[in-house]
Amino acid sequence: MKTTLCFVLSAFVFTILWAGTLIGAPQPEKARDGEEVYKENCTRCHNTPPAMSERHAKVVSAHMRVRANLTARDANAVMHYLAENAKSK
Ligand code: HEC
Repeated sequence: MKTTLCFVLSAFVFTILWAGTLIGAPQPEKARDGEEVYKENCTRCHNTPPAMSERHAKVVSAHMRVRANLTARDANAVMHYLAENAKSK
């Protein structure tokens, strides 16, 4: 009796966990890391990103967004990455 209860209970928990993965199936696209975006898109035409001011980073990411065919989200991520990169130089 105790074993049956235990089995039913664990089957129940398991089903909930399994259903949970199904419900979460189409994962919301998570914000991408700017460095990752740079490596995937910009290194096709460029080497390591040059040091630049924050203003310059804004202009560059707007220009290069067209060249690299980035989504707004990726362009924004890369812009922050370039600006951060500038601060650390
Ligand atoms: C298809 C090739 C290509 C891709 C992809 C590309 N670029 Fe460029 N990039 C160029 C060319 C060519 C120039 C020369 C200036 C121009 O024609 O706009 C340039 C210029 C630049 C410059 C210097 C010019 C300026 O505005 O000061 C920077 C910085 C730069 N790119 C960054 C990036 C970043 C960041 C990415 C990724 C989001 C990227 N590029 C993707 C081709 C590319």
